Amino acid sequence: LAQSGLQDVVVADTETSRVDGLGGTLIVAGVPVGALGSFEEVAALLWGERPDAISAALGAGRRRAWPLVALADAALSRSDGMVALRGALSLLQREGPADIVGACAVLTAAWVRRHQGLAPLPPDPSLGHAADLQRMVLGAPHPARARALGAYLSTVAEHGMNASTFTARVVVSTGSDAVSAVVAALGALKGPLHGGAPGPVLDMLDAVGSPAGAPAWIAQELEAGRRIMGMGHRVYRVRDPRAAVLEAAVERLAEDVPQAGARLVLARAVEATAQAALAARTDRPLRANVEFYTAVLLDAIGLPRSAFTPLFACARTVGWLAHVAEQRAHGRMIRPRARYVGPLP
Ligand code: COA
Repeated sequence: LAQSGLQDVVVADTETSRVDGLGGTLIVAGVPVGALGSFEEVAALLWGERPDAISAALGAGRRRAWPLVALADAALSRSDGMVALRGALSLLQREGPADIVGACAVLTAAWVRRHQGLAPLPPDPSLGHAADLQRMVLGAPHPARARALGAYLSTVAEHGMNASTFTARVVVSTGSDAVSAVVAALGALKGPLHGGAPGPVLDMLDAVGSPAGAPAWIAQELEAGRRIMGMGHRVYRVRDPRAAVLEAAVERLAEDVPQAGARLVLARAVEATAQAALAARTDRPLRANVEFYTAVLLDAIGLPRSAFTPLFACARTVGWLAHVAEQRAHGRMIRPRARYVGPLP
Protein backbone atom coordinates (compact mmCIF):
# COMPACT_ATOMS: atom_id res chain seq x y z
CA LEU A 1 0.00 0.00 0.00
CA ALA A 2 1.22 3.51 -0.80
CA GLN A 3 2.18 5.45 2.33
CA SER A 4 0.13 8.67 2.31
CA GLY A 5 2.41 11.71 2.30
CA LEU A 6 5.40 9.44 3.11
CA GLN A 7 4.44 9.97 6.75
CA ASP A 8 6.85 8.16 9.10
CA VAL A 9 8.90 6.82 6.16
CA VAL A 10 12.62 7.15 6.95
CA VAL A 11 14.43 8.18 3.76
CA ALA A 12 17.96 8.93 4.99
CA ASP A 13 20.40 8.71 7.86
CA THR A 14 21.53 12.21 8.75
CA GLU A 15 23.90 14.06 11.05
CA THR A 16 22.09 17.37 10.51
CA SER A 17 19.28 17.38 13.07
CA ARG A 18 16.92 15.31 15.19
CA VAL A 19 13.30 16.38 15.61
CA ASP A 20 11.67 14.62 18.58
CA GLY A 21 7.95 15.27 18.32
CA LEU A 22 7.00 13.54 21.56
CA GLY A 23 9.84 14.87 23.70
CA GLY A 24 9.54 18.33 22.14
CA THR A 25 13.24 18.67 21.42
CA LEU A 26 15.26 19.72 18.39
CA ILE A 27 18.96 18.94 18.22
CA VAL A 28 20.99 20.54 15.44
CA ALA A 29 24.31 18.75 14.78
CA GLY A 30 24.59 17.83 18.45
CA VAL A 31 23.39 21.15 19.92
CA PRO A 32 19.89 21.73 21.43
CA VAL A 33 18.00 24.46 19.56
CA GLY A 34 18.02 26.73 22.63
CA ALA A 35 21.82 26.63 22.85
CA LEU A 36 22.59 27.47 19.22
CA GLY A 37 24.95 30.41 18.63
CA SER A 38 25.20 32.89 15.77
CA PHE A 39 24.05 32.07 12.25
CA GLU A 40 27.70 31.61 11.27
CA GLU A 41 28.15 29.14 14.14
CA VAL A 42 25.09 27.17 13.05
CA ALA A 43 26.32 27.06 9.44
CA ALA A 44 29.75 25.97 10.71
CA LEU A 45 28.16 23.14 12.71
CA LEU A 46 26.04 21.97 9.80
CA TRP A 47 28.71 22.33 7.13
CA GLY A 48 31.56 21.02 9.27
CA GLU A 49 33.69 24.17 9.07
CA ARG A 50 35.13 26.85 11.39
CA PRO A 51 32.86 29.82 12.22
CA ASP A 52 35.51 32.44 11.31
CA ALA A 53 35.97 30.82 7.91
CA ILE A 54 32.20 30.79 7.41
CA SER A 55 31.93 34.43 8.40
CA ALA A 56 34.50 35.49 5.79
CA ALA A 57 32.97 33.22 3.16
CA LEU A 58 29.44 34.56 3.74
CA GLY A 59 30.70 38.16 3.54
CA ALA A 60 32.45 37.37 0.25
CA GLY A 61 29.34 35.54 -0.95
CA ARG A 62 27.17 38.60 -0.29
CA ARG A 63 29.68 40.89 -2.01
CA ARG A 64 29.87 38.67 -5.09
CA ALA A 65 26.06 38.44 -5.21
CA TRP A 66 25.52 42.21 -5.40
CA PRO A 67 25.79 42.42 -9.26
CA LEU A 68 22.92 39.91 -9.40
CA VAL A 69 20.54 42.59 -8.12
CA ALA A 70 20.85 44.47 -11.42
CA LEU A 71 20.99 41.30 -13.52
CA ALA A 72 17.86 39.91 -11.88
CA ASP A 73 15.87 43.12 -12.19
CA ALA A 74 12.89 41.52 -13.94
CA ALA A 75 12.65 38.71 -11.37
CA LEU A 76 12.91 41.15 -8.45
CA SER A 77 10.04 43.21 -9.84
CA ARG A 78 7.61 40.34 -9.07
CA SER A 79 5.30 41.18 -6.19
CA ASP A 80 5.51 37.75 -4.47
CA GLY A 81 8.84 37.60 -2.64
CA MET A 82 9.23 33.85 -3.13
CA VAL A 83 8.61 34.12 -6.87
CA ALA A 84 11.16 36.95 -7.00
CA LEU A 85 13.76 35.01 -5.01
CA ARG A 86 13.25 31.83 -7.01
CA GLY A 87 13.73 33.67 -10.31
CA ALA A 88 16.64 35.82 -9.15
CA LEU A 89 18.56 33.04 -7.44
CA SER A 90 18.35 30.84 -10.51
CA LEU A 91 20.65 33.35 -12.26
CA LEU A 92 23.46 32.68 -9.75
CA GLN A 93 26.48 31.14 -11.46
CA ARG A 94 28.49 30.13 -8.38
CA GLU A 95 27.37 27.12 -6.46
CA GLY A 96 29.42 27.25 -3.26
CA PRO A 97 27.21 27.13 -0.13
CA ALA A 98 28.35 30.56 1.09
CA ASP A 99 27.66 32.08 -2.33
CA ILE A 100 24.13 30.71 -2.33
CA VAL A 101 23.36 31.79 1.26
CA GLY A 102 24.97 35.19 0.60
CA ALA A 103 22.90 35.66 -2.54
CA CYS A 104 19.67 34.79 -0.72
CA ALA A 105 20.26 37.59 1.78
CA VAL A 106 21.25 40.21 -0.81
CA LEU A 107 18.34 39.36 -3.13
CA THR A 108 15.74 39.22 -0.35
CA ALA A 109 16.86 42.60 1.01
CA ALA A 110 16.88 44.11 -2.49
CA TRP A 111 13.35 42.80 -3.13
CA VAL A 112 12.02 44.25 0.15
CA ARG A 113 13.52 47.70 -0.50
CA ARG A 114 12.46 47.76 -4.10
CA HIS A 115 8.86 47.08 -3.14
CA GLN A 116 9.00 49.87 -0.58
CA GLY A 117 10.09 52.23 -3.38
CA LEU A 118 13.63 52.42 -1.98
CA ALA A 119 16.99 51.75 -3.63
CA PRO A 120 18.59 48.40 -2.67
CA LEU A 121 21.65 48.73 -0.42
CA PRO A 122 24.92 46.95 -1.25
CA PRO A 123 26.21 44.44 1.32
CA ASP A 124 28.93 45.21 3.86
CA PRO A 125 31.07 42.04 3.97
CA SER A 126 32.73 43.17 7.21
CA LEU A 127 29.48 42.70 9.17
CA GLY A 128 28.04 39.46 10.53
CA HIS A 129 25.47 37.88 8.22
CA ALA A 130 22.41 38.69 10.33
CA ALA A 131 23.59 42.24 11.03
CA ASP A 132 24.19 42.88 7.35
CA LEU A 133 20.83 41.42 6.36
CA GLN A 134 19.08 43.59 8.99
CA ARG A 135 20.94 46.67 7.69
CA MET A 136 20.27 45.90 4.01
CA VAL A 137 16.53 45.47 4.68
CA LEU A 138 15.86 48.24 7.21
CA GLY A 139 18.36 50.76 5.87
CA ALA A 140 20.46 51.41 8.99
CA PRO A 141 22.23 49.17 11.50
CA HIS A 142 20.32 48.45 14.71
CA PRO A 143 22.19 46.05 17.03
CA ALA A 144 19.13 44.85 18.99
CA ARG A 145 17.12 44.17 15.83
CA ALA A 146 20.14 42.47 14.24
CA ARG A 147 20.54 40.24 17.31
CA ALA A 148 16.87 39.30 17.16
CA LEU A 149 17.07 38.52 13.44
CA GLY A 150 20.19 36.42 14.10
CA ALA A 151 18.32 34.42 16.75
CA TYR A 152 15.54 33.77 14.23
CA LEU A 153 17.92 32.69 11.44
CA SER A 154 19.78 30.28 13.74
CA THR A 155 16.58 28.81 15.17
CA VAL A 156 14.99 27.91 11.83
CA ALA A 157 18.13 27.01 9.84
CA GLU A 158 17.52 23.26 9.97
CA HIS A 159 14.57 21.02 10.82
CA GLY A 160 14.75 17.39 9.75
CA MET A 161 13.34 15.88 6.56
CA ASN A 162 10.69 18.45 5.78
CA ALA A 163 9.21 18.81 2.27
CA SER A 164 11.67 21.42 0.95
CA THR A 165 14.70 19.58 2.34
CA PHE A 166 13.53 16.36 0.72
CA THR A 167 13.05 18.28 -2.55
CA ALA A 168 16.64 19.56 -2.43
CA ARG A 169 17.88 16.02 -1.80
CA VAL A 170 15.90 14.58 -4.72
CA VAL A 171 17.38 17.18 -7.09
CA VAL A 172 21.06 16.63 -6.14
CA SER A 173 20.54 12.88 -5.96
CA THR A 174 20.41 12.90 -9.77
CA GLY A 175 23.86 14.54 -9.91
CA SER A 176 22.37 18.01 -10.48
CA ASP A 177 23.85 21.21 -9.01
CA ALA A 178 23.28 22.95 -5.66
CA VAL A 179 21.66 26.08 -7.13
CA SER A 180 19.05 23.89 -8.86
CA ALA A 181 18.46 22.07 -5.57
CA VAL A 182 17.91 25.32 -3.65
CA VAL A 183 15.68 26.82 -6.35
CA ALA A 184 13.54 23.66 -6.28
CA ALA A 185 13.45 23.76 -2.47
CA LEU A 186 12.25 27.39 -2.67
CA GLY A 187 9.39 26.15 -4.81
CA ALA A 188 8.43 23.62 -2.13
CA LEU A 189 8.80 26.10 0.72
CA LYS A 190 6.59 28.60 -1.09
CA GLY A 191 3.47 26.45 -0.59
CA PRO A 192 1.18 27.56 2.23
CA LEU A 193 1.27 24.16 3.93
CA HIS A 194 5.02 24.41 4.40
CA GLY A 195 6.56 27.90 4.36
CA GLY A 196 3.45 28.59 6.27
CA ALA A 197 1.95 31.89 6.83
CA PRO A 198 3.09 33.62 9.98
CA GLY A 199 1.16 36.48 8.34
CA PRO A 200 -2.19 35.02 9.52
CA VAL A 201 -0.85 34.92 13.10
CA LEU A 202 -0.32 38.67 12.88
CA ASP A 203 -3.76 39.13 11.38
CA MET A 204 -5.12 37.22 14.38
CA LEU A 205 -3.23 39.37 16.90
CA ASP A 206 -4.50 42.49 15.13
CA ALA A 207 -8.05 41.17 15.20
CA VAL A 208 -7.88 40.23 18.89
CA GLY A 209 -6.55 43.70 19.71
CA SER A 210 -5.99 43.34 23.47
CA PRO A 211 -5.48 40.47 25.97
CA ALA A 212 -9.02 41.01 27.28
CA GLY A 213 -10.38 40.37 23.80
CA ALA A 214 -8.73 36.96 23.44
CA PRO A 215 -11.34 34.62 25.01
CA ALA A 216 -14.28 35.90 22.96
CA TRP A 217 -12.32 36.00 19.72
CA ILE A 218 -10.86 32.48 20.11
CA ALA A 219 -14.27 31.05 21.08
CA GLN A 220 -15.90 32.64 18.04
CA GLU A 221 -13.22 31.25 15.67
CA LEU A 222 -13.59 27.74 17.04
CA GLU A 223 -17.39 27.99 16.94
CA ALA A 224 -17.11 28.90 13.27
CA GLY A 225 -14.97 25.79 12.68
CA ARG A 226 -11.82 27.75 11.84
CA ARG A 227 -8.31 26.78 12.96
CA ILE A 228 -6.27 28.91 15.29
CA MET A 229 -3.18 29.99 13.40
CA GLY A 230 0.21 29.20 14.90
CA MET A 231 -1.18 26.31 16.97
CA GLY A 232 -0.61 22.60 16.26
CA HIS A 233 2.13 20.75 14.39
CA ARG A 234 2.43 17.62 12.26
CA VAL A 235 5.39 16.27 14.25
CA TYR A 236 5.39 17.99 17.67
CA ARG A 237 2.84 16.69 20.15
CA VAL A 238 4.01 19.25 22.72
CA ARG A 239 4.97 22.90 22.39
CA ASP A 240 7.36 23.42 19.48
CA PRO A 241 10.79 23.93 21.14
CA ARG A 242 11.54 26.74 18.69
CA ALA A 243 8.58 28.73 20.05
CA ALA A 244 10.34 29.15 23.40
CA VAL A 245 13.58 30.29 21.76
CA LEU A 246 11.81 32.86 19.61
CA GLU A 247 9.63 34.01 22.52
CA ALA A 248 12.81 34.65 24.55
CA ALA A 249 14.24 36.61 21.61
CA VAL A 250 11.15 38.86 21.56
CA GLU A 251 11.58 39.40 25.30
CA ARG A 252 15.19 40.51 24.79
CA LEU A 253 14.22 42.75 21.89
CA ALA A 254 11.57 44.41 24.07
CA GLU A 255 14.35 45.89 26.22
CA ASP A 256 15.26 48.12 23.24
CA VAL A 257 12.05 48.20 21.21
CA PRO A 258 9.11 48.95 23.55
CA GLN A 259 6.39 47.98 21.02
CA ALA A 260 7.80 44.44 21.09
CA GLY A 261 6.86 44.22 24.77
CA ALA A 262 3.23 45.14 24.16
CA ARG A 263 2.97 42.61 21.31
CA LEU A 264 4.49 39.95 23.54
CA VAL A 265 1.90 40.50 26.28
CA LEU A 266 -0.87 40.16 23.70
CA ALA A 267 0.72 37.10 22.04
CA ARG A 268 1.11 35.29 25.36
CA ALA A 269 -2.50 35.96 26.29
CA VAL A 270 -3.72 34.68 22.93
CA GLU A 271 -1.51 31.59 23.15
CA ALA A 272 -2.71 30.72 26.68
CA THR A 273 -6.35 31.29 25.74
CA ALA A 274 -6.07 29.27 22.52
CA GLN A 275 -4.25 26.43 24.25
CA ALA A 276 -6.91 26.16 26.96
CA ALA A 277 -9.80 26.44 24.48
CA LEU A 278 -8.30 23.76 22.20
CA ALA A 279 -7.59 21.45 25.15
CA ALA A 280 -11.23 21.73 26.21
CA ARG A 281 -12.34 20.62 22.73
CA THR A 282 -9.97 17.84 21.77
CA ASP A 283 -7.60 15.28 23.28
CA ARG A 284 -5.14 16.04 20.53
CA PRO A 285 -2.40 18.24 22.00
CA LEU A 286 -2.45 21.51 20.06
CA ARG A 287 0.27 23.84 21.29
CA ALA A 288 2.10 26.85 19.82
CA ASN A 289 4.26 26.14 16.76
CA VAL A 290 7.28 27.98 15.37
CA GLU A 291 5.08 30.28 13.29
CA PHE A 292 3.40 31.78 16.33
CA TYR A 293 6.45 33.56 17.74
CA THR A 294 8.11 33.92 14.31
CA ALA A 295 5.29 36.28 13.49
CA VAL A 296 5.69 38.22 16.72
CA LEU A 297 9.48 38.41 16.44
CA LEU A 298 9.83 39.40 12.77
CA ASP A 299 7.06 41.98 13.15
CA ALA A 300 8.72 43.44 16.25
CA ILE A 301 12.00 43.72 14.32
CA GLY A 302 10.11 45.93 11.88
CA LEU A 303 10.08 43.52 8.93
CA PRO A 304 7.10 43.52 6.55
CA ARG A 305 4.83 40.43 6.58
CA SER A 306 5.43 39.90 2.86
CA ALA A 307 9.12 39.21 3.61
CA PHE A 308 8.56 36.51 6.24
CA THR A 309 8.72 33.47 3.94
CA PRO A 310 11.76 34.75 1.95
CA LEU A 311 13.53 35.37 5.28
CA PHE A 312 12.66 31.84 6.35
CA ALA A 313 14.26 30.67 3.09
CA CYS A 314 17.39 32.76 3.81
CA ALA A 315 17.84 30.76 7.02
CA ARG A 316 16.76 27.32 5.82
CA THR A 317 19.16 27.42 2.83
CA VAL A 318 21.89 26.54 5.33
CA GLY A 319 20.05 23.33 6.26
CA TRP A 320 19.22 22.51 2.63
CA LEU A 321 22.89 22.77 1.70
CA ALA A 322 23.95 20.54 4.60
CA HIS A 323 21.54 17.91 3.27
CA VAL A 324 22.81 18.49 -0.28
CA ALA A 325 26.35 17.70 0.92
CA GLU A 326 25.18 14.59 2.79
CA GLN A 327 23.15 13.37 -0.15
CA ARG A 328 26.14 13.80 -2.47
CA ALA A 329 28.45 12.02 -0.05
CA HIS A 330 26.27 9.06 0.86
CA GLY A 331 23.05 8.99 -1.11
CA ARG A 332 21.87 7.03 -4.10
CA MET A 333 19.57 8.55 -6.70
CA ILE A 334 16.15 8.92 -5.05
CA ARG A 335 13.75 6.94 -7.17
CA PRO A 336 10.70 5.52 -5.41
CA ARG A 337 7.94 3.63 -7.17
CA ALA A 338 4.24 4.11 -7.74
CA ARG A 339 1.70 1.31 -7.62
CA TYR A 340 -0.30 1.19 -10.86
CA VAL A 341 -4.01 1.14 -10.13
CA GLY A 342 -5.24 2.05 -13.65
CA PRO A 343 -6.99 -0.20 -16.14
CA LEU A 344 -5.17 -3.20 -17.61
CA PRO A 345 -5.36 -3.87 -21.35
N1 COA B 1 -6.90 24.97 15.54
C1 COA B 1 -7.99 24.22 15.68
N2 COA B 1 -8.03 22.90 15.42
C2 COA B 1 -6.91 22.33 14.98
C3 COA B 1 -5.72 23.06 14.82
C4 COA B 1 -5.75 24.43 15.12
N3 COA B 1 -4.66 25.18 14.99
N4 COA B 1 -4.76 22.23 14.40
C5 COA B 1 -5.31 21.03 14.26
N5 COA B 1 -6.63 21.08 14.63
C6 COA B 1 -7.55 19.96 14.64
C7 COA B 1 -8.11 19.72 13.26
O1 COA B 1 -9.26 20.47 13.04
C8 COA B 1 -8.37 18.25 13.28
O2 COA B 1 -9.57 18.02 13.98
P1 COA B 1 -10.61 16.92 13.47
O3 COA B 1 -9.87 15.61 13.56
O4 COA B 1 -11.75 17.06 14.40
O5 COA B 1 -10.93 17.30 12.06
C9 COA B 1 -7.25 17.70 14.14
O6 COA B 1 -6.83 18.79 14.96
C10 COA B 1 -6.08 17.18 13.32
O7 COA B 1 -5.73 18.10 12.30
P2 COA B 1 -4.68 17.75 11.11
O8 COA B 1 -4.70 18.85 10.12
O9 COA B 1 -4.89 16.36 10.63
O10 COA B 1 -3.35 17.71 11.94
P3 COA B 1 -1.86 17.88 11.39
O11 COA B 1 -1.01 17.31 12.41
O12 COA B 1 -1.68 17.43 9.99
O13 COA B 1 -1.80 19.48 11.38
C11 COA B 1 -1.07 21.69 11.19
C12 COA B 1 -0.70 20.25 11.57
C13 COA B 1 0.04 22.65 11.56
C14 COA B 1 -1.33 21.78 9.67
C15 COA B 1 -2.36 22.09 11.96
O14 COA B 1 -2.16 21.97 13.35
C16 COA B 1 -2.86 23.46 11.62
O15 COA B 1 -3.57 23.61 10.62
N6 COA B 1 -2.50 24.51 12.41
C17 COA B 1 -2.95 25.83 12.15
C18 COA B 1 -2.21 26.43 11.03
C19 COA B 1 -0.82 26.79 11.40
O16 COA B 1 -0.47 27.17 12.49
N7 COA B 1 0.00 26.71 10.41
C20 COA B 1 1.29 27.23 10.56
C21 COA B 1 1.31 28.60 9.93
S1 COA B 1 0.48 29.87 10.76
